[in-house]
Amino acid sequence: MKSYKIAWLPGDGVGIDVMEATRIVLDAAKLNLEYIHGDIGWEFWCKEGDALPQRTVELLGRVDAALFGAITSKPVKAAEAELVPELKGKGLTYRSPIVRMRQQFDLYNCLRPCKAYPGNPLNYKEGLDLVVFRENTEDLYAGVEFNPVPKELASVLTSLAKPFAPFAKLEGNQYAVSCKINTRKGSERIVRAAFDFARKFGRKKVTIVHKANVVRATDGLFLELAREVAKGYPEVTFDEANVDAIMMWLLKNPFNYDVLVAPNLYGDIVSDLCAQMVGGLGFGCSGNIGEKLAVFEPTHGSAPKYAGQYKVNPIATILAAKMMLDWLGETATAAKIEAATAAVIKEGKVRTYDMGGTSTTLEMGKAIAAKL
Ligand code: IPM
Ligand code: MG
Repeated sequence: MKSYKIAWLPGDGVGIDVMEATRIVLDAAKLNLEYIHGDIGWEFWCKEGDALPQRTVELLGRVDAALFGAITSKPVKAAEAELVPELKGKGLTYRSPIVRMRQQFDLYNCLRPCKAYPGNPLNYKEGLDLVVFRENTEDLYAGVEFNPVPKELASVLTSLAKPFAPFAKLEGNQYAVSCKINTRKGSERIVRAAFDFARKFGRKKVTIVHKANVVRATDGLFLELAREVAKGYPEVTFDEANVDAIMMWLLKNPFNYDVLVAPNLYGDIVSDLCAQMVGGLGFGCSGNIGEKLAVFEPTHGSAPKYAGQYKVNPIATILAAKMMLDWLGETATAAKIEAATAAVIKEGKVRTYDMGGTSTTLEMGKAIAAKL
């Protein structure tokens, strides 16, 4: 049996609860997986000024894949206030470790399947099966941001600005700038990933989500490349939609959609909507996939108010583990885990609070494990 090294990154908050439940399922699957714990999360920000310590970065460099729970994030000022006294005033800036992992390991493909498992009381409509591909390293997540705006940049912006631009006559401390940076390479490869997936799994349609009518440079580039890439996949219907309009259309006619692909921020938004249509964040699973490494996670946050209560639904993380096994090539076991999860959902005997039940996080894990 092939063996794999897995970085095990529970993080904090309910990340710890859902990872424990997922481990029950993975252990029952009897694969040859070696789990190596990695420090990540709020505790390490407070103690070390780094929520993703270098030793964890090194760990990620030598594993086959990683499973990640959740971490608490707070706005910059609140984060600074929680540092241990000796780290305060050193100009440390909190940045989301998951965003850093995505960039540092070039995990460009954020894959978010959203499937309505039959009998889930939270389904918006039975039979939905959407897959979102989200570009994962660029766009407004590039991390190039200014507040206040430095003089050099302010003078360039002012010289380029149309006289009616709202910031044209302002001092640099009166506005802030976040740069949306989209590359040809980044845009093209995520669109290609979406079309390759459609081809491989016989999906009928790929919808490009954009706002190129207003955000002409970056979204325009994304759309232009998407149109080019689409030509190579004549058997897949190519479709385009503005990000605002698709929010309405997805709710109105969800069965008109199949595979969706979007730049980073729109993908973040669209994938939350699609997750809600199939049961909410307790069902939203996600892969951050690169050429060498992939990190799998539930899309929900750390829900600190539920931390340690074993209350939240672990299915999103269990499905993320299933995605991890698919990526490793253990597709038969992945399919078994999905079937076991679907069976528990359909039976309806074990349900966490979000599904209207009283079962605990671990009871859900055990019920799924028992069906393997
Ligand atoms: C997600 C989350 C993250 C994101 C946060 C936690 C930084 O919302 O994975 O969708 O914005 O990408
Ligand atoms: Mg999100």
